[in-house]
Amino acid sequence: MSTANINEVEGKSVIVTGAASGIGRAIVELFHARGASVIAEDIDPAVNELARKGVIPVVADVTQDGTAEHAVTLAIEHFGKLDVLVNNAGRIVYKNLVDMSRDDWNWQMETNVTGAFLHSREAMKAMMKQRSGAIVNIASYASYFAFPGIAAYTASKGALAQLTRTQALEAIEHGIRVNAIGVGDVVTNLLNHFRADGREFLAEHGKSAPIGRAAAPEEIAEIAAFLASDRASFIVGSIVMADGGMSVQIS
Ligand SMILES: NC(=O)c1ccc[n+]([C@@H]2O[C@H](COP(=O)([O-])OP(=O)(O)OC[C@H]3O[C@@H](n4cnc5c(N)ncnc54)[C@H](O)[C@@H]3O)[C@@H](O)[C@H]2O)c1
Repeated sequence: MSTANINEVEGKSVIVTGAASGIGRAIVELFHARGASVIAEDIDPAVNELARKGVIPVVADVTQDGTAEHAVTLAIEHFGKLDVLVNNAGRIVYKNLVDMSRDDWNWQMETNVTGAFLHSREAMKAMMKQRSGAIVNIASYASYFAFPGIAAYTASKGALAQLTRTQALEAIEHGIRVNAIGVGDVVTNLLNHFRADGREFLAEHGKSAPIGRAAAPEEIAEIAAFLASDRASFIVGSIVMADGGMSVQIS
């Protein structure tokens, strides 16, 4: 399918967290290709590879005080406004509950939930002045479903879904839409820090979805672009499932 003429995010000023790799990187590239200007933030200096006209990379940790404020300031200074925030940065702790330390737990929650909270708060302050904006959170089918070994991850993604819903209710009166994507298996480096065959595992696991495969990051980027755009004007507080049908089958 040709997407050459799609321009739903043209002219928008966007912050994407977790932009160096996987889904975040695909979102930056798709949004930029369709005419958006992007602050691309990641803890990994590889994010600097994205530098080009209309993309400003920032090496920063989403969990730290000041990171979100800095990203919003950059967007306003360079692009004159902030239209879209994509809270994508995420990590996964793979440990059974009995083996999980408080540090493991805190690291997981800080990255996946606190980082999104801090960025959503600062973005909303800027968007409220404009009386417009869209926030897209990268949630998961793990926002609803459980798997042994990832209790902290499922708790964090469940929390992100509820953050989405509550913020959506507080934001819509200011003209700001907040939604999330319930992402299924996507072939990325997400698992690589605890298993060398992370990409192969995700590709294989995706075969158990009704669609019979995992997604490419670009397929998730398409949904983020739609939710961020004015075409999604009536979607408020939704977790849009993009999981190849994984969450609607019983086994
Ligand atoms: N890949 C999947 O199957 C899948 C499924 C459901 C949800 N997700 C979610 O998608 C999002 C993107 O993950 P991905 O699959 O592209 O993995 P990825 O590992 O390729 O990308 C995640 C990015 O987040 C960055 N990041 C991590 N901690 C950070 C921090 N503290 N500050 C700034 N950046 C940080 C990493 O450096 C990395 O570039 C995550 O929120 C993940 O939970 C992924």
